[in-house]
Amino acid sequence: MIDFADVDALFKKAHLLHGQAEINAVMDKMAVEIKTKLGDTKPIMLCILNGALIFMGHLLTRLNFPLQIDYVHVSRYRGEIQGRNLDWIAEPNGMLEGRTVVLVEDILDSGLTLSAVKDYCTKRRVKNVYTAVLIDKNHPRDPGGLAKADFTGLYVEDKFLIGYGLDYKGFCRNLPGIYAVET
Ligand code: IMP
Ligand code: MG
Repeated sequence: MIDFADVDALFKKAHLLHGQAEINAVMDKMAVEIKTKLGDTKPIMLCILNGALIFMGHLLTRLNFPLQIDYVHVSRYRGEIQGRNLDWIAEPNGMLEGRTVVLVEDILDSGLTLSAVKDYCTKRRVKNVYTAVLIDKNHPRDPGGLAKADFTGLYVEDKFLIGYGLDYKGFCRNLPGIYAVET
């Protein structure tokens, strides 16, 4: 059973850290960086669902060079707010072999999700794999976790965040900004 009162209570405790105008400016800058580095490579932009959905869509419209898109759906939390194991809900549809792949993710936290998806891409014999995250959370990485993304939007304090793809128990991904929740 979903505890809707719990979701309402969390929503009330959230305050805006980065609004839409600021996120737009950050994505403009990231798009230039990605184009400069990878604009000639016909990359596959691989969306890590669900969290990266919103960031991916807005980033893509800024990348005015030939690319393809694909996705993986992985979950570490399965509707909870912590957890270690990565569930693979969907693997990419297309051929990754020999391609330049950019993993697009909402947030780098422990680093385990991105390191696992990077390892997967290596096993699929991609040519190169890069990582692009909207948020780098100032949180100690887990052993084996990715230390730093190749392209980073915002560096954010170590708080529980919602909005712009980030969820609390599946809610709040739709909020048009990044909000911190005091726990
Ligand atoms: P990592 O594997 O710990 O780096 O975390 C990556 C995943 O954890 C992200 O794709 C998010 O889905 C989730 N996550 C990490 N921090 C937060 C947060 O502050 N709010 C909501 N989800 C988070
Ligand atoms: Mg995620």
